[in-house]
Amino acid sequence: MKLLFGTLCVCLALAVSFGAPTLHADAHGDHDSSHAGDHDHHKDDHHADNLDRCDGIEFDAITVDEKGTPYFFKGDHLWKGFYAHAELSNGTFHELDDQHHLGHVDAAFRMHNPDRHKHHDHSDEHGDQYHDHVVFFLDDKVFIYDNHSLEKNYPKEIREVFPGIPSHLDAAVECPKAECETDSVLFFKGDNVYHFEIEKREAHEEDWAHLPNCTSAFRWLGHYYCFHGHEFTKFNPVTGKVTGNYPKDARDFFMKCPKFAKDSDHTEREKCSRVHLDDITSDDAGNVYAFRGHYYLHRAPDNNTWKAHPIDDTWKEIHSDVDTVFSYNNNLYMIKGNQVYVYSTGEKHTLLDGYPKSVSEELGIEGHVDVAFVCNDAHVLYVIQGDKMHEVDLQNRPRVKGVEYKLPFHHIDAGTCGSDGVKIMEGSYFYQFESPRLMATSRMLPVQHTISVELFGCDH
Ligand SMILES: *[C@@H]1O[C@H](CO)[C@@H](O)[C@H](O)[C@H]1NC(C)=O
Ligand SMILES: *[C@@H]1O[C@H](CO)[C@@H](O)[C@H](O)[C@H]1NC(C)=O
Ligand SMILES: *[C@@H]1O[C@H](CO)[C@@H](O)[C@H](O)[C@H]1NC(C)=O
Ligand SMILES: *[C@@H]1O[C@H](CO)[C@@H](O)[C@H](O)[C@H]1NC(C)=O
Repeated sequence: MKLLFGTLCVCLALAVSFGAPTLHADAHGDHDSSHAGDHDHHKDDHHADNLDRCDGIEFDAITVDEKGTPYFFKGDHLWKGFYAHAELSNGTFHELDDQHHLGHVDAAFRMHNPDRHKHHDHSDEHGDQYHDHVVFFLDDKVFIYDNHSLEKNYPKEIREVFPGIPSHLDAAVECPKAECETDSVLFFKGDNVYHFEIEKREAHEEDWAHLPNCTSAFRWLGHYYCFHGHEFTKFNPVTGKVTGNYPKDARDFFMKCPKFAKDSDHTEREKCSRVHLDDITSDDAGNVYAFRGHYYLHRAPDNNTWKAHPIDDTWKEIHSDVDTVFSYNNNLYMIKGNQVYVYSTGEKHTLLDGYPKSVSEELGIEGHVDVAFVCNDAHVLYVIQGDKMHEVDLQNRPRVKGVEYKLPFHHIDAGTCGSDGVKIMEGSYFYQFESPRLMATSRMLPVQHTISVELFGCDH
């Protein structure tokens, strides 16, 4: 409720993001077909084939698509986002299958080349004119996709499009000008690393013997990750340097798994995870709570340090996977499925007598609630369901749906409101608005902030 972000360590290492966010942006990492399924994991399992990312998979390739959604590839399967089930890759990229029958891709990246794109010239068929296209490597062939359709005259030979780059690659990742001096691609094969400059069409080899052999490589929030086995190592894309404690387990940071590595540091993991938050709120005393899966991060009033705990330790009736949490009148309201749990706050959190109650009985709302929050000491609850927001006056009983707004978001994961306005969280990012009403009427997305870095002070 009163989330005082100003007192946090706000790191200004703003991630340079590809593709300016648009109002109905999908560039939030977690926009995937399972979003609705997140509340009902068994609805759409017909393609899952028991392939579970949480078992510790070594990916063949990782990239973002044109909209910024991460795609993870293994064999003939694909995961969209950080928590969807596996699906068949040929459902999205039809031609990959016709051409090779290998049942896997070697490497993939998203071409970033805005300068050349401006002078788009159809006579130039070298691949260097493509911007925001997804590029796949299979054996000695390269496939370039635009909006999930294969470009004309593709696939082509790798050496024709990327001279100096070998076939049978292990990994590839884009590196835009702001991070690599010129718009570039890094290619990995065994322990060889090649830096390819897109405009010059020149490759030179890097001597990065210290880096593990990458089986896939991924750029996310302006950081570069070499994946090997089920682990990853963050590296500098110019020097190849690795700083910090690596490798780390990919399941802790890039997947939503029920169990984590034995030696997982819960606080570091929860601060740095790319998986969306379930919700965030603060109580009247100024404690801030951020929820994800089975854990929550807590920051005490006048304290800059976050610490993770299992939800079971504090709210055992909730156990995990809360949908939304808000604080009102010294009570914490937690909504999970169609139930509302109300806890008194203070030294201990105690479930009030008579709870849980159904959402419709307690709040006069039907259907799944994505996010709910109260601003400061007001009595208006804002309830967000998909792209709609309603007001509910908490002083009236029975409670009834009030004013309805149409939001400039299709889906949000978390939201909170305080003296510095509203914060709306979607995937790995958050946005600030002055008030709920201004949010509802806004036609431009404000500056995109990174949750892990700017909110929790994560350094990777
Ligand atoms: C997609 O791949 C699966 C398994 O690899 C195969 O059984 C199926 O026929 C393919 N579908 C299409 C449309 O090619
Ligand atoms: C992408 O393809 C889909 C379906 O094929 C189409 O509806 C959509 O308009 C395309 N988007 C762009 C930007 O071309
Ligand atoms: C890394 O790749 C090289 C071939 O380029 C190979 O000789 C070496 O065994 C690989 N190392 C590991 C740990 O797989
Ligand atoms: C701040 O919170 C951390 C983590 O809960 C705790 O270890 C530390 O003692 C607190 N600092 C103060 C000054 O209360």
